[in-house]
Amino acid sequence: MRSDSVNSTVVYNITQLTDIVDRMRSQLRLAVIHGGDKTQPGAVIYPTHNPRSTKTYHTVAKDIAEALGELGFKQVSLLADDMTLPQTLETQGIHLAWLNTGGVQGYDPVCHTPAMLEMLGVPYIGHNPLNSSILDNKHAFKRELQALGIATAPFVVSHPFQDPFNPETDGQFQRVFADYSGPFVVKPVSGRASVNVFVVDDWRDLGEAVATIHRITANTALIEAYLPGREFCISVCGRITYRQGAFEHIPKPFAFSAIERILEADERIFTSMDAKGMTANRMRLLSSQDESERELRSQLEAIAQQIYRAFNLSSLVRIDLRRDSQGQLYVLEANPKPDLKRPTPSQTSLVAQGLQDCKMTYTDLILSLLGDRLYHLLNYQPNLIPHLQRMMLP
Ligand SMILES: Nc1ncnc2c1ncn2[C@@H]1O[C@H](COP(=O)(O)OP(=O)(O)O)[C@@H](O)[C@H]1O
Ligand SMILES: [Mg+2]
Repeated sequence: MRSDSVNSTVVYNITQLTDIVDRMRSQLRLAVIHGGDKTQPGAVIYPTHNPRSTKTYHTVAKDIAEALGELGFKQVSLLADDMTLPQTLETQGIHLAWLNTGGVQGYDPVCHTPAMLEMLGVPYIGHNPLNSSILDNKHAFKRELQALGIATAPFVVSHPFQDPFNPETDGQFQRVFADYSGPFVVKPVSGRASVNVFVVDDWRDLGEAVATIHRITANTALIEAYLPGREFCISVCGRITYRQGAFEHIPKPFAFSAIERILEADERIFTSMDAKGMTANRMRLLSSQDESERELRSQLEAIAQQIYRAFNLSSLVRIDLRRDSQGQLYVLEANPKPDLKRPTPSQTSLVAQGLQDCKMTYTDLILSLLGDRLYHLLNYQPNLIPHLQRMMLP
């Protein structure tokens, strides 16, 4: 399988990747992993608190597993990431895992399963433990964005179990918001789908909003300037894509589905998907026909690609952004496990909505993510996949 590729750092090229994936369809034992349920007997030793709003993402994991089946992978399991997982991975002889989980409970739950898989030696499609944690802690991500010179709304944090937050005595708040008196957004640092996100118009009400977040999450609260402008998102993944029947190696991370989220007149923040499903009339793909939209799209793509590279990401993220009153774009967050729901006639996802424009289907995206991960592991981290290397021996 080794080639005399012109590019000395790449051992396996796209043609070889195609052959490898073809062979793996019958041999590879895959597991798509969704969040476990701590209330089930035998799931955990002691059920505890989850500072992140709990969701198992089981339905979407099923969509991914079914798509892998349609792509010809013969052995695909659907597993929960509870304490039975390591044993099940071993007994089922799983070669490669696909992480579609936000974790079960405890602090930084999004990094628990990748960390455990690192320890077990099972490779996975998903983010490494450090990136999972950074991306799922909005304040940590924003501090890195600031260091990279990528615009994000001015912010301060308030940790729980310390003195109550008081904007009048908080030195950092006084410095950051010296010339700004509101409105603000107060939200959990680790959250999802606009759950527990509050707009606070008067700085005098910040203490109460922060205390509410502390009470509900027992975790850090983020206080940032409210951005009143239009809201956008864009998805980005690696440079190996699959479309129209073939893998491609493109020059930059693949940024796609540049979307404006449609806010109603009285909707100051995007209403949670939990309360209002994600339908096509809540989003609008940025057009490639209109010049100003093309320009905006390129701007979003450039930010997404910069983030993908700067964090050395290894799988899909969806970046949420919003404009201020002057039209300047600011990054709100990058979602480490964006919704990968398979689109239906009535429901869609912010990731899948733009695929058709890229001449891709949902299964093409799933194969792109798998192909990109395999390409990376085979070429750059072969020491992480001795069992897959053995599988490829003639
Ligand atoms: N600084 C902000 N200014 C304006 N709206 C915000 C701000 N932060 C969050 N929002 C709104 O709240 C929603 C959820 O916030 P976000 O940071 O994306 O967290 P999550 O999606 O994890 O709940 C956003 O889609 C946006 O509508
Ligand atoms: Mg968001």
